[in-house]
Amino acid sequence: MIFFTRKQRLFLVGFAVFYLFLLIVYRFRSARDPGSFFFQPEEGYRPEYSIKRIDESLEYLRPYNQSFNDPAHPARNFTTSSDNATICVGIVTVKRPLEQKISTTVASILDNLSEKERDTLTVHVLFALTSPADHPDYSQPWLPNVVDRVLTYDQFDTKISTLQRLEEKKDVKRKSIIDYHLSLKSCYEDTQAPWIMMLEDDVVAQRGWYNHTMQSLSTIQSWRERGSIKNWLYVRLFYTEKFLGWNDENWLFYTAWSVGIVAMVAVVSIQARRSIRSLQGTLNNSFIAILCFGCVPLLIILYFLAGRVTMLPMRPGVHLMNTHGCCSQALMFPRENVPALLEYLEKARYARPLAVDSLIERMANANDLDRLAIVPSQMQHIGAASFKENRKQYHLKGPHPVQGAHGVWSMEFEKAFEP
Ligand SMILES: *[C@@H]1O[C@H](CO)[C@@H](O)[C@H](O)[C@H]1NC(C)=O
Repeated sequence: MIFFTRKQRLFLVGFAVFYLFLLIVYRFRSARDPGSFFFQPEEGYRPEYSIKRIDESLEYLRPYNQSFNDPAHPARNFTTSSDNATICVGIVTVKRPLEQKISTTVASILDNLSEKERDTLTVHVLFALTSPADHPDYSQPWLPNVVDRVLTYDQFDTKISTLQRLEEKKDVKRKSIIDYHLSLKSCYEDTQAPWIMMLEDDVVAQRGWYNHTMQSLSTIQSWRERGSIKNWLYVRLFYTEKFLGWNDENWLFYTAWSVGIVAMVAVVSIQARRSIRSLQGTLNNSFIAILCFGCVPLLIILYFLAGRVTMLPMRPGVHLMNTHGCCSQALMFPRENVPALLEYLEKARYARPLAVDSLIERMANANDLDRLAIVPSQMQHIGAASFKENRKQYHLKGPHPVQGAHGVWSMEFEKAFEP
């Protein structure tokens, strides 16, 4: 039976109140962190900024969405030669089960650009259907007015019969590899753009993505010139925090820190008892044991439960993200390593098929190439339905069926501060 002195009891009650307070604070602070015990899908997947951006981009598209030739909004597909573009944007679009978002994707990367900035971009959209007219957007008036190159399989020397067979078999994996390859190739071969940005057809961009990304690219280039980073394959403009939590492979590191903190508290308590007289009665051995094996572990547990993204957020800027960077919604490739990737994808479609994002990671690992990420995400994934999950029914509410996009979601994007 342990007897507590008055001071000890006071301390323990104080600690209990403090701990309860922390629990309440982190229940709210971590509600949006997908790696946290306190994560609440309702909170974390609630779209805010992305809804605003969807509305803005569709608003931008409206005046272009007419078939007669309007001198204020001249057609893009016929007038410009895109040879001096700085960024070639490659987008593969397929017919999605619920809604098509390709109009939002294209419009949101263009709607805040000046005319000069617009001219540094060339947008190639591949309609990846053997009969492209089945895609609801293929015949829409805005398309040739906004997109620099509207591509179909006819423009490539691929075997239509192979693609037809893959479509019939619903072999999405193998077909996505071919589609990605074609789209990347069209950017690489038809332009001299030093940067190739591959987007999926269900993303929406931040208002300031262009300047932010150009700045990040020049930062990366200066690092590269100074030799502080390795050769690199891409910088990602979208990532989900879902896989950036506490990772198993770091368990030794986490354990070492925890043990270290417990040891430190023990040492400090013993020292304090020695040098401060008035503490001698309070900090006896059993009480130090309660501190070290009760209070401190409770705090450490709370720290881990609160989630890594909450406790150790990444600073805004460019970060190395060689592992746990998911998914392939928006990747910017420097031109130099694209031929090797094209070759890798070409070979991969004959092997056991993997998802395109896994293939890209494998290629980078095999060639010892770094992968970078812009923090926070410049793009958001707004696909309501994915082929990966193969659901029969969707229960989606709200003005736009976004709702967390089945977890492939950037919570940081939604908090974008823009005056
Ligand atoms: C463009 O106009 C067509 C009708 O001509 C309409 O069906 C479509 O929804 C419009 N698209 C956008 C993105 O506003």
